[in-house]
Amino acid sequence: MEYHFQLLYPRQVILATSRSGEKSNIITLGWHCPLSFKPPLVGISVGKTRFSHSLIQKEREFVVSIPTESMLEKVLLIGSKSGRDVDKFPEFGLTPLQATAVKPPLIKECPINIECRVVAELDAGDHTLFSGEVVASHAFPLKENLLFDMGGRKLFGVKKG
Ligand SMILES: Cc1cc2nc3c(=O)[nH]c(=O)nc-3n(C[C@H](O)[C@H](O)[C@H](O)COP(=O)(O)O)c2cc1C
Repeated sequence: MEYHFQLLYPRQVILATSRSGEKSNIITLGWHCPLSFKPPLVGISVGKTRFSHSLIQKEREFVVSIPTESMLEKVLLIGSKSGRDVDKFPEFGLTPLQATAVKPPLIKECPINIECRVVAELDAGDHTLFSGEVVASHAFPLKENLLFDMGGRKLFGVKKG
């Protein structure tokens, strides 16, 4: 059967951080979306085999961090290596910052960081859709293009506004 998933692209690419104990991690995500204004909810779909999946399911928190065009190569690498094998913050030269309401860190190099607490999860086949309530949010003025996946993990910078 042909799924035509390719036609659901382009999609904005984001990062999500997670943490358990002393271990922090980052995952690249193309499957995510805003879910609700009141309360403010963001959904992320995370493969069950991902290291991030175990951290988010256990600790029930994540931070959505919005990368920009200059981070393109790093975003692809973060999305191809597992936190089981590498510590992605030092590996990719990213700086973790203490969040205000959750344990997973913000990413200093990202202009937007949204702190979320998991309020629901949907078993979605080989993924889990985590619904996160926004409990704090941080934004610096956007000076660069945002990153979009055209499908096939080909990323492009797209100007906002
Ligand atoms: C552009 C791009 C988009 C991706 N989107 C998703 C996604 O939406 N959900 C997901 O589970 N994995 C996605 N991945 C794959 C994960 O980022 C990848 O498996 C990563 O290595 C998992 O890291 P972890 O094991 O440290 O959690 C994507 C990868 C790339 C490069």
